[in-house]
Amino acid sequence: MAAAITCSQLKLNSISFNTPSSKPRFNQSSACCALPSSSRSNKSYAAAEPQPLFSAVKSFAPATVANLGPGFDFLGCAVDGIGDHVSIRVDPNVRPGEISISDISGAGSKLSKNPLWNCAGIAAIAAMKMLNIRSVGLSLSLEKGLPLGSGLGSSAASAAAAAIAVNELFGNRLSQSELVSAGLESEEKVSGYHADNVAPSIMGGFVLIRSYEPLELVQLKFPDDKKLFFVLVNPEFEAPTKKMRAALPQEVTMSHHVWNSSQAGALVAAILQGDISGLGKALSSDKIVEPKRAPLIPGMEAVKKAAIKAGAYGCTISGAGPTAVAVIDNEERGREIGERMVEAFLEEGNLKAMAMIKQLDRVGARLVSSVPR
Ligand code: HSE
Repeated sequence: MAAAITCSQLKLNSISFNTPSSKPRFNQSSACCALPSSSRSNKSYAAAEPQPLFSAVKSFAPATVANLGPGFDFLGCAVDGIGDHVSIRVDPNVRPGEISISDISGAGSKLSKNPLWNCAGIAAIAAMKMLNIRSVGLSLSLEKGLPLGSGLGSSAASAAAAAIAVNELFGNRLSQSELVSAGLESEEKVSGYHADNVAPSIMGGFVLIRSYEPLELVQLKFPDDKKLFFVLVNPEFEAPTKKMRAALPQEVTMSHHVWNSSQAGALVAAILQGDISGLGKALSSDKIVEPKRAPLIPGMEAVKKAAIKAGAYGCTISGAGPTAVAVIDNEERGREIGERMVEAFLEEGNLKAMAMIKQLDRVGARLVSSVPR
């Protein structure tokens, strides 16, 4: 039998609330949502236990581009059409209050089926704990659509899909900031405490993490009538997030602080204005993180130059890499830029790579199917 673990066995940081059913879901039109400052303390929930509304649900969570250049750990966006699926069902063979991972398919053959060490398992347990689930056992199956260690928010997509699936199974009681908090439990354990993948994967669109303590998330509205294309070029190379974080400086100079802060401000302004050229310029401008990481990804510096030469408005490393991301406002041009970037990875980095052209995912993690009880 697959490893199972009760949600109370894992020491999870969580948010205290009294009446989860009365909590509104994050409203996309509101600018900001905040969690109490105790959000990382180990409090338990006093809420009444909800019963499952369905016998099974399936959810999807999209890939994400974190950092967006100067927004290290505080800016990210969701991209459409690629991501992970999680199915969760009520399973009488699993002890009440526990979750078991029954199956992992797709790109996740290396992943642990122990829920304590699996991104989806950790987030599902966190969501179960928030909901105070004690009398129902669950089975989880994960379909990995995203390659591991790719810089496309693979671990966050699994966590986001799992948190959403648990929440939907029990009647959609958690707010979006609580769901992000559940996903953050997983990110903290697996790749580092950062929400710039899991927040956009859950909420969709562009998200600014204004604060971690308390968790405050700001959805940045990109105008509906603007066409923004991401050229994502993924080389055959693994860049584990933990390793890529270890390469970063502990301190930065005042001049780099001033430069990166102004570029991050410019990036936020460009997103809100739908100014794709300004977005690309700011995306390309990081002087703190990208210069330390790019040399660790063979060919990355040449790939960035090739993207700009081919007409991209900007290019940087997606998340911790190794995927390179460029932005453009025209799909056909995006394909040509992608071809030049693939060539540069091969010629300068000796790496085979694959290009994808994607648009912004404005929806975020979602329920895709459910089976009535
Ligand atoms: N902000 C994180 C990092 C994202 O760059 O380490 C990882 O995908």
